[in-house]
Amino acid sequence: MRIAFFDTHKFERPFFDEANKETRFTLTYYETPLKAHSAPLASGHDIVCCFVNDQLDADVIGKLVEHNVRMIALRSAGFNNVDLEAAQRFNLPVTRVPEYSPYAVAEHATALALCLNRKIHWAYHRVRDMNFSLDGLVGFDMRSKTVGILGTGKIGSVFAKIMHGFGCKLLGYDLTHNPELEQKYGLHYKDAKQVFEQSDIISLHLPLNPLTRHIVDQAALETMKPGCMLINTGRGALINTKALIASLKSGKLGYAGLDVYEEEEDVFFRDLSGQIIKDDCLARLTTFPNVLITSHQGFLTREALANIASTTLQNISDFEQSLPIKNQVSWEKHVK
Ligand code: NAI
Repeated sequence: MRIAFFDTHKFERPFFDEANKETRFTLTYYETPLKAHSAPLASGHDIVCCFVNDQLDADVIGKLVEHNVRMIALRSAGFNNVDLEAAQRFNLPVTRVPEYSPYAVAEHATALALCLNRKIHWAYHRVRDMNFSLDGLVGFDMRSKTVGILGTGKIGSVFAKIMHGFGCKLLGYDLTHNPELEQKYGLHYKDAKQVFEQSDIISLHLPLNPLTRHIVDQAALETMKPGCMLINTGRGALINTKALIASLKSGKLGYAGLDVYEEEEDVFFRDLSGQIIKDDCLARLTTFPNVLITSHQGFLTREALANIASTTLQNISDFEQSLPIKNQVSWEKHVK
């Protein structure tokens, strides 16, 4: 099998090379993301391997088929960037890595919350400047705070357990309820509005779909407690960025920790230092002292990268051997 990897980065290639010692596929790594103009690079390959910001719309999928591509192997959990209906129409199986390390992302969400609370990002720079003053660095105890978790699936439930360890009270919003979280960790399920109203810290662990897009909008932000902390490691478009900026400007929202951003596609994962940032919302967000942005690095642990590589190549191996593909994403199951 010849596999064209799009939007690849130095940090992930060694993990794929290692996992491929078993499968022995032919791997071609492209740095360019998959878009209509780069689709011809898939020519001569059986499979494309894509990540979160590759654009797999009907037009691109049609072009892939023209180049005899037979499968789309996502090396991500989320698949909101794929037109699954078009993939099905062209008879192109789509696979993903549903779980590679919920710990990696949940721990990163925790890191964002702790860093914002205790102002570690300021303290780091102060001490390096030999400024040992503590003024302006007052945080709060996590213990007894109410943490609202939107999406209590694999990542959200790990986050719930970590927050339980801090002695927090837990609220959850999800279409399906996890009895373990209710019984063992005292999590109470509420509707989204109640979670917004009652939480001191809100963490988003929902997939992006038509129902969850902009779930944090102006109305939701107005509902939140003054000084509330909002953490998003889910997908950028769960939040309406303009409404977020307005709430931060007004002083209503206390903190925002963002590992994902609505318009991250052309910015995140790239070194743009020295260039003019054209995205005014992103530029504005970086000016707030109570906003911490990371560049979609929640998944970036050695364990997660090793799992991503082995599961992706296993999915391809299943396809090659015409075995049932465990991690296939289907339009019927996931969207319809
Ligand atoms: P999951 O599928 O285990 O959990 C998602 C939960 O959301 C499920 O319990 C589901 O019932 C719930 N849900 C879906 N639609 C809903 C709706 N309309 N209303 C209420 N609940 C709804 O997924 P997992 O593994 O926990 O990942 C969550 C998200 O985290 C992914 O979809 C992805 O967008 C994001 N992610 C971010 C990463 C990062 O590096 N920052 C890495 C991996 C995932």
